[in-house]
Amino acid sequence: MLPSRLLRFSATIVLFYSAQATTNPFTQYAVDFPDPNRVAAGNLPTNLAGAEDTIVAWADEMTSYGPWSVTFKPVLAPSGDKHDYMSWAPYQWPNCTGIPNAASLTPPEIWKTCPYINRDGQVNPDRTTINDFQSFFNLSDAVLYNSIAAVLQGTPSSIYSQNVAKFIDTWFLNNDTFMNPNLNYAQMDRGPTGQMGAFTGPLDLRGMAKIASGILMLRKTKNSDWTDARDAQFVAWCNNYIGWLQSAPQAKSAAAQLNNHGTIFVSQLAALKLVVGDTNGAVSLIQGYFSGIFKGQINSNGEQPKESARTRPYHYRNFNAAGMITNARLLSYADSTLTTSGWNATTQQGATIQTAIDFLMTVNPATTQEANVTSEIYPNIAAVASAYGDASGKYGTFLNKSRFPYADDATFLWDQPLAGGDLAAESEANHTGSAVGSGAPGPTQSATTKTKNGSLSRFERLELVGWVAGALGVIGLLY
Ligand SMILES: *[C@@H]1O[C@H](CO)[C@@H](O)[C@H](O)[C@H]1NC(C)=O
Ligand SMILES: *[C@@H]1O[C@H](CO)[C@@H](O)[C@H](O)[C@H]1NC(C)=O
Ligand SMILES: *[C@@H]1O[C@H](CO)[C@@H](O)[C@H](O)[C@H]1NC(C)=O
Ligand SMILES: *[C@@H]1O[C@H](CO)[C@@H](O)[C@H](O)[C@H]1NC(C)=O
Ligand SMILES: *[C@@H]1O[C@H](CO)[C@@H](O)[C@H](O)[C@H]1NC(C)=O
Ligand SMILES: *[C@@H]1O[C@H](CO)[C@@H](O)[C@H](O)[C@H]1NC(C)=O
Ligand SMILES: *[C@@H]1O[C@H](CO)[C@@H](O)[C@H](O)[C@H]1NC(C)=O
Ligand SMILES: *[C@@H]1O[C@H](CO)[C@@H](O)[C@H](O)[C@H]1NC(C)=O
Repeated sequence: MLPSRLLRFSATIVLFYSAQATTNPFTQYAVDFPDPNRVAAGNLPTNLAGAEDTIVAWADEMTSYGPWSVTFKPVLAPSGDKHDYMSWAPYQWPNCTGIPNAASLTPPEIWKTCPYINRDGQVNPDRTTINDFQSFFNLSDAVLYNSIAAVLQGTPSSIYSQNVAKFIDTWFLNNDTFMNPNLNYAQMDRGPTGQMGAFTGPLDLRGMAKIASGILMLRKTKNSDWTDARDAQFVAWCNNYIGWLQSAPQAKSAAAQLNNHGTIFVSQLAALKLVVGDTNGAVSLIQGYFSGIFKGQINSNGEQPKESARTRPYHYRNFNAAGMITNARLLSYADSTLTTSGWNATTQQGATIQTAIDFLMTVNPATTQEANVTSEIYPNIAAVASAYGDASGKYGTFLNKSRFPYADDATFLWDQPLAGGDLAAESEANHTGSAVGSGAPGPTQSATTKTKNGSLSRFERLELVGWVAGALGVIGLLY
């Protein structure tokens, strides 16, 4: 291979990389609760510039899909009420064998007439015909990242907090577009014996923990777009929905599950209790989790037996871990004076959340054909490193070796302290200002106009070296 060719190629990579490598691609994390007080307090360390840029880019990107409402879907719930949330059980397929005139049935007739059978792990693609669940995931990310962007902006009003107000109004409050405060038709089975929501349904609204974090941040910073009137209306909605979560059969069944369903039910309900001001209720609910089902969720070696039994064990272990981490964060926020926190709660076999993550770090997701979800562990590692410390450097080393640019990820903002980050930020004029811009351009502003200009951070340089080395290795093989 000619050296000049090699040089030209690596120079191209360097230029491409330095122009692009500023914000991480959007990732929809399962569940989280960034401490609203911590974000609202401001005075963030300067090594967070990469995370801030990513948060603003994600706020813009999610905003481009909104607003969302259950009334936008093309199909009505069995109630006939357009305000009812609905989603279909993912693995259910119609079996129209033996049904008269099966060939001439319309889809809505099939949904009611044909028995549905379970094909575990095979998602029926028509599930996305009604995308209330995906809408709510996007809504919750839009509210969280726009709220943080509003705090970073530092002005009483901004396009970001206006976005939050619009999204909350549209999904929860407006007369035409509000959602009824229940999940009667969430993850429902279809067919003649179906038509009601299942205990798996409450999991659809786990994004409530992100929404609560965002709203509590706007309250704390006295954001003028989060008005008292809107706050009162939203609190009223949340109180009604809490009533449903504490009384409906599907919700009671979800709460009684010993696995991730039970864990994340607590994340959602505790977050809602914080929004409505029932702090004591939130604390006792989460303490009940850590002295209850948590006790049976982690073995002494860190294995999560309730999750490893599933078809996608690497995913489910990380999913439940994200719920455990969220519950620990919620408890620390709700009462920082407690002498026993979720972080040092132990299971019957003496394990903590940290034990579960340490174990997961030894698991190769490829052995269960889950290499495509390897990244689910990164935010869990960052959370554990920030909560328990990383004296030996093993968490930082794992993340650095994975080449996931964690210091440019949104979660790096609240997974602190954790070594790394944009150490060049101090030499940038004013990274918060440049990350957020003037606030004038609005939601269509593209992410690239807000990226850091000029020097690569130390981490990016490190990444770049690995990238070029990898590329040269590939070229070596090709030529
Ligand atoms: C589909 O329905 C037919 C008629 O009831 C039944 O014989 C068959 O076993 C069903 N198929 C499956 C996979 O359940
Ligand atoms: C949600 O966001 C994803 C990008 O992460 C996008 O592809 C999808 O269309 C959005 N869906 C809705 C309903 O907003
Ligand atoms: C919304 O509906 C309520 C009750 O149906 C009504 O009193 C109120 O005036 C409506 N508000 C708007 C803005 O239409
Ligand atoms: C548990 O965590 C709390 C809060 O971080 C701390 O004050 C306490 O000392 C810890 N207790 C034990 C037994 O580690
Ligand atoms: C990962 O791959 C599995 C098996 O092919 C698939 O079922 C799953 O949906 C994939 N997950 C993602 C997030 O792409
Ligand atoms: C990981 O990389 C970052 C950025 O280069 C560095 O600050 C941090 O110390 C590294 N962590 C470890 C444990 O090597
Ligand atoms: C950054 O912005 C803040 C607020 O506008 C200002 O007080 C501070 O002096 C700026 N810092 C630099 C280094 O320009
Ligand atoms: C980046 O910085 C260079 C030199 O400081 C400047 O010429 C260029 O216009 C800047 N680009 C952007 C997009 O701000």
